Amino acid sequence: MVFAKKHWIIIGSIGSTLAIAIIVGVTVGVVVGRRKSEQTTNEQRAFDILAQNPLIDGHNDWAMIIRAILQNNISGHDFYNMTQYDRKNGTPSQTDIIRLRKGQVGGQFWSIYTSCEHQGKDAIMSFMEQIDVMNRLIEKYSDVFQFVRTANEIRQAFQAKRIASLFGVEGGQAIESSFSILRLFYQMGVRYMTLTHNCNTPWADQNQVDRINSTLIKNNGLTEFGKKIITEMNRLGMLIDLSHVSKKTMLDVLNITRSPVIFSHSSAWTLCNHTRNVQDDVLQLIKSNRGIVMVAFTPGFIICNRQRRVTIPDVAAHINHIRNVAGIDSVGIGADYDGIDDTPEGLEDVSTYPKIIEYLISQGNWTNDDIIKLIGGNIIRVIEENEKISRDLQKIIQPFEDLIPLNDLIKYNLTQCRYLDMYTDTSYL
Ligand SMILES: *[C@@H]1O[C@H](CO)[C@@H](O)[C@H](O)[C@H]1NC(C)=O
Ligand SMILES: *[C@@H]1O[C@H](CO)[C@@H](O)[C@H](O)[C@H]1NC(C)=O
Ligand SMILES: *[C@@H]1O[C@H](CO)[C@@H](O)[C@H](O)[C@H]1NC(C)=O
Ligand SMILES: *[C@@H]1O[C@H](CO)[C@@H](O)[C@H](O)[C@H]1NC(C)=O
Ligand SMILES: *[C@@H]1O[C@H](CO)[C@@H](O)[C@H](O)[C@H]1NC(C)=O
Ligand SMILES: *[C@@H]1O[C@H](CO)[C@@H](O)[C@H](O)[C@H]1NC(C)=O
Ligand SMILES: *[C@@H]1O[C@H](CO)[C@@H](O)[C@H](O)[C@H]1NC(C)=O
Ligand SMILES: [Zn+2]
Repeated sequence: MVFAKKHWIIIGSIGSTLAIAIIVGVTVGVVVGRRKSEQTTNEQRAFDILAQNPLIDGHNDWAMIIRAILQNNISGHDFYNMTQYDRKNGTPSQTDIIRLRKGQVGGQFWSIYTSCEHQGKDAIMSFMEQIDVMNRLIEKYSDVFQFVRTANEIRQAFQAKRIASLFGVEGGQAIESSFSILRLFYQMGVRYMTLTHNCNTPWADQNQVDRINSTLIKNNGLTEFGKKIITEMNRLGMLIDLSHVSKKTMLDVLNITRSPVIFSHSSAWTLCNHTRNVQDDVLQLIKSNRGIVMVAFTPGFIICNRQRRVTIPDVAAHINHIRNVAGIDSVGIGADYDGIDDTPEGLEDVSTYPKIIEYLISQGNWTNDDIIKLIGGNIIRVIEENEKISRDLQKIIQPFEDLIPLNDLIKYNLTQCRYLDMYTDTSYL
């Protein structure tokens, strides 16, 4: 019986192992099953919100890529699938129609940008070429894109299941210090202007003047002429974009603007102290201004001194921080796709917006209404407020007719390619 007993013990132990295995199996199955269904729920919730409410990104450099890679020749190329194009040093292009659709993009501020090297030379021409190439692209794919200029037109395009396409001029160098060009850009549909890129204009300072030991020449924020540009933009209803500007420029603008401003692609300075990011005291001013900070996915703005790849939770931390300091009405998304050489893991291109939304939902402290504000509700409200204030201002302020002071141009060596007739030459009379 010793054997039998042993046998029984063995059988018994097999039995209890089986029982435990079954219990463990069932438990694991239930837990995994529950986790799986939670994931489906978050993914489904993100999908549904994006299907019913437009996601409007603040900044995308597709036009810059088309200039750099295709020299603005769109006729012989396929814009549905651009995965084969090398953006730079082996990074694939981040935008095309297939991926925009997969990413459920409802609207996009297409960045109208050429580099600072054009300033004082052919800046106006090169920016016009970028508007023209986007006009042609929107026309060629008019079943996909719809050119829009107002909050109402954004809603109409979204209803028609087309990607609402807005223009934002990136870099005040585009207007060559001329109110006439500023107004003509507005007429062409440009609805925001970033006051500077990574170079000063003769009337506003860029972020790099804030770098430690910077030796760049400065205006100390906005000049008197720059303040008039701000008022004219308010009067026109062109949003003021403070991404790329210096902190003093931000403060000067926030002290005088009548309308809510935007940061079209910047992140939180407290989490990464890059001069392109927004400090907490400015975030508080944005809250009282009713403006918006649209979070950039640029890895170098998300984690400073990177030892590892930037991930979705790292980007979410910036969104959460800006929401916490500036409020739920002042946060948005401005990923800067095709303007960045590197991307966070999981957010490789425009097809990935649902992933970051799904992650925020999974945190448990973002309601559907919060998500709707983040993805597009807030920027639409900012556009609407700019529209309203512009209508009011046009009753009391006339278009500006000032010339920039000649000395401001001389300071930046920007007189070489100008014939200065309006300053000095009356010989044609
Ligand atoms: C545009 O690109 C296509 C495809 O490469 C080419 O066939 C066409 O000749 C180009 N057009 C011009 C005007 O260069
Ligand atoms: C896009 O084109 C590449 C080849 O250039 C191909 O490998 C890929 O499958 C295409 N993507 C889609 C979604 O068709
Ligand atoms: C800035 O300049 C000071 C004084 O010349 C120098 O001691 C310091 O190392 C510089 N800092 C950086 C970050 O270059
Ligand atoms: C804000 O602007 C007013 C003039 O509109 C000026 O008197 C004041 O000094 C400015 N404040 C700051 C902090 O720049
Ligand atoms: C940014 O933070 C790093 C440490 O994380 C510090 O060394 C550096 O001086 C800071 N830069 C500025 C501009 O505050
Ligand atoms: C939401 O919860 C996450 C996880 O606890 C936290 O990190 C984040 O800061 C919270 N967001 C806000 C806006 O409070
Ligand atoms: C001003 O521009 C001219 C022509 O581009 C150039 O030769 C000159 O060196 C510039 N001067 C300064 C101070 O940048
Ligand atoms: Zn930029």
